[in-house]
Amino acid sequence: MNQQARKVVLLAHPAGHSLSPDMQNAAFRAAGLAGRYEALDVPPEALEGAVNDLRGEGYLGANVTVPHKEAVKGLVDALTEAAVAIGAVNTIYKEDGRLIGHNTDGAGFLMGLRELFEADATRAVAGALEGQTALILGAGGAARAVIYALAGAGARVLVANRDAQRAARLAAELSSHGLPVAAAQVPEALSGGVELLVNCTSVGMRGGPAEGELPLLGAAELGKLREGAAVVDIVYRPAVTPLLAAAAALGFLTQNGLPMLVMQGALAFEAWTGVDAPVRVMREALASRIAGGGTS
Ligand code: ATR
Repeated sequence: MNQQARKVVLLAHPAGHSLSPDMQNAAFRAAGLAGRYEALDVPPEALEGAVNDLRGEGYLGANVTVPHKEAVKGLVDALTEAAVAIGAVNTIYKEDGRLIGHNTDGAGFLMGLRELFEADATRAVAGALEGQTALILGAGGAARAVIYALAGAGARVLVANRDAQRAARLAAELSSHGLPVAAAQVPEALSGGVELLVNCTSVGMRGGPAEGELPLLGAAELGKLREGAAVVDIVYRPAVTPLLAAAAALGFLTQNGLPMLVMQGALAFEAWTGVDAPVRVMREALASRIAGGGTS
């Protein structure tokens, strides 16, 4: 890594209490790099200037979060295929002096999922998603990244949302990219057989409007997942959401949103530095920060 270029910033508004500085600064230290990661509060009118600043030698790149993930697409020099398909940028890295807008959320989700499958002796990891049906709850930005990743890994994806029109629009758009995605209602999807359920809504999140609730389905419906199914919640606080508690009680494999959070960060770190991410250290930094307070 160029020792002159060593700062990464998070473009956010408000900068809030992001967990990424803890995770990324721990990664720089563990990798022995002189990098520094800092959250910046960038109001929309200052976004263009903040992106242009990244062209300076002192910067390795950036993370991008609410509310800039879409606006930044028009300010970088090129977009990766993932950023185009997901329709949002969460990472900016530099290549030959050009700013590349990328998105590591989908690939990060998939890496987290592989960890879950590896832990289960009954599942073959290679091709684990090939030909399987995944039901995604939610149709926002997080759902979009997860659907893109799962469909790209060979799963057939059904998407259900409180606002069914939004699910239909999302499915139509991703289908137009050639991905096997269809909108569905939860009961019909379950009766067709579902091997993987992913909650991409904010339901169940601590401090959220639907804290303590299950997203779009009841425990009885959860029992209609195929035997051996996996249930993933992208919510990570609480660590065991109501959905995950209900799924575990029914004997399904479960995983919360922490692996996705770690892995999207690890992939971003690798894009900025060209160095393997110290994933274990990053996970520990996040876990201790979550235990102590703070938001995403
Ligand atoms: P993100 O980018 O994090 O995905 P988002 O675009 O605001 O955020 O999407 C939030 C998702 O949570 C949406 O699917 C939303 O459903 P609607 O599209 O119907 O609004 C879902 N969601 C939020 N609160 C919900 C609730 N109480 N019940 C069901 N779904 C909810």
